[in-house]
Amino acid sequence: MTIGKKNVKKVTTHVLQEMKRKGEKISMLTAYDYSFAKILDDAGVDVLLVGDSASNVMAGHETTLPITLDQMIYHASSVVRGVERALVVVDLPFGSYQGNSKEALFSTIRIMKESGAHAVKLEGGREVVDSIERILTAGVPVMGHLGLTPQSIYKFGTYVVRAKEEEEATKLLEDALLLEAAGCFALVLEKIPATLAKKVAASVKIPVIGIGAGNGVDGQVLVLHDLLGMSKEFNPRFLRRYMNLYDDIRSSVGNYIRDIKSQDFPNEREQY
Ligand code: KIV
Repeated sequence: MTIGKKNVKKVTTHVLQEMKRKGEKISMLTAYDYSFAKILDDAGVDVLLVGDSASNVMAGHETTLPITLDQMIYHASSVVRGVERALVVVDLPFGSYQGNSKEALFSTIRIMKESGAHAVKLEGGREVVDSIERILTAGVPVMGHLGLTPQSIYKFGTYVVRAKEEEEATKLLEDALLLEAAGCFALVLEKIPATLAKKVAASVKIPVIGIGAGNGVDGQVLVLHDLLGMSKEFNPRFLRRYMNLYDDIRSSVGNYIRDIKSQDFPNEREQY
């Protein structure tokens, strides 16, 4: 599809499907605001996820549970305004879809209407199949999320690797097949053994995007703030930091403070 003033070829769910078929890896990153979304889109990232990790990295909560539907819509609409090419997927936040499939559909409709995003993501396997099917009746593409599902952190108790034991691994593979049959256009697999993730990716026709799930899947996703090194506290094995922004920002702001105190800033060329 070619739409928009710059004649940009938009990434659609169909494009992602084709990428899997051709063996071309999919790049996905989280985004929560206009300015970053614009840069990431310009850099060519295929999918932008307005993740409920906004609850952690934007709002400073310990878990993803507190973020609300209104807050997700605010982040999503900001991201959409910065994007010309990428597919924008929005997380249904905790409490906005678990009640029943009607609630899931209403929450989805609010996200789509009020933000202009292109798809939603929700966590879980067989227990959310009804909701996925109902959302699809409204024509909204759905991305699934299995493995470590942070909205269930109090059930798991910890953020350790999931599905290491055979029973859980078998259930995860069954859930992946169920989500595909229900009509999901893609799946996220979070923090599971690489061999299992590879098996899932080979067993389904839809793209599988991994985070901490090894290289045998169809694409990768990271939380933007982690990739940029905005925090020093989060150090999982799967994270590759491409910048050390925490230190860079801290020292830039330190220099700014120094220049004000020494009356070096503003100088004659920086005033009217
Ligand atoms: O909310 C989020 O950032 C996510 C990714 C970790 C996949 O769901």
